[in-house]
Amino acid sequence: MAKLTVADDEVELASRAAERVVQLIAAAADAHGRAIVSLTGGTTPRRLYSTLADARQPWRDRIPWSRVHLFWGDERHVPPDHSDSNYGMARVALLDHVPVPADHVHRMRGELTDAQDAAADYERALNRVASAFRRKNLFDLMLLGVGEDAHIASIFPGSELLDTRVDRPAARRRVAAIWARRLEAWRITLTPETILDSRAIVVLVAGADKADAVRAALHEPFDAHKYPAQLLRSAGDRVEWFVDRAAAPRL
Ligand code: 6PG
Repeated sequence: MAKLTVADDEVELASRAAERVVQLIAAAADAHGRAIVSLTGGTTPRRLYSTLADARQPWRDRIPWSRVHLFWGDERHVPPDHSDSNYGMARVALLDHVPVPADHVHRMRGELTDAQDAAADYERALNRVASAFRRKNLFDLMLLGVGEDAHIASIFPGSELLDTRVDRPAARRRVAAIWARRLEAWRITLTPETILDSRAIVVLVAGADKADAVRAALHEPFDAHKYPAQLLRSAGDRVEWFVDRAAAPRL
C-alpha cells in the first residue's frame, strides 16, 4: 500500500518532501556509492527544488551531490532555455545552486528537431547508465507530479503507452516521444515500465484542482487508460504520496 503524507500547505509540503528526498538519496549513495534520481517537471516541484537548494535550510548539505545523477521523467519539445523546459525550471530552482557534477546531469534534448530523435537519444543515455551501473532498479528515486487528468510524466489518458499488450512496439522501450493531442505538442517521456523501475517513487501534488485526480489514483476502480496515475498501484509501498490539504479533501 502506498504511503500518504498530507501537508497543511505548499510550504510544509515542500519541506516534508525535502526531508524524505534527502533520506532516500543519502541512503542510496551510502548503499551503492551513487544515487540515480529522476526529476519531474511542471510547476508543483519548483518549491521543493528551491527548498533543497537553499543553504539556509537543513537539507542541501545533507545530500552528497557529487554522487547524484539526475535524469528527467519527461520533457517538452523545446530548447533548454525555453520557459516551458522542465530542465530549464530545475536548473534555475536547483542545479545552479548545488554542486552536482555537470556530467551527472542527463537532460532530455528537447531542442532536437524530431522528438523521436530526442527519445532515441535519451534511450541510449539510459541504456549506458543501466549497463554501467548494473543494478536491480534503474532509479533510486523517481519524482513525479500528477496532472488534473491524472496523467503522470507525459503519459496522458488514452495514451498508446498504456497499451499493455506485450507485443506492442513500445514494450521494450525506456523512452518514447508522444504527440499530446490536448496540448497539440510533442513530449518526450519515460515509459510506464521505466517509471516503475524505481526503488522509491515520490509523488508531489498540490492544489484543489488535483483533488479528483488524487482520489482516482488512490481509490477509484482500476482503469489506467482513464487514470494513468493508477499505474503506480503496482509499485505498492515503494510509492509515497505527498499531498497538500487543498488536494486531499476527497481522500
Ligand atoms: C510536465 C510534468 C507533468 C506534471 C503534471 C503536473 O512536464 O508537465 O512532468 O507530468 O508533473 O502536469 O504539473 P503541475 O505541477 O504544473 O500541476
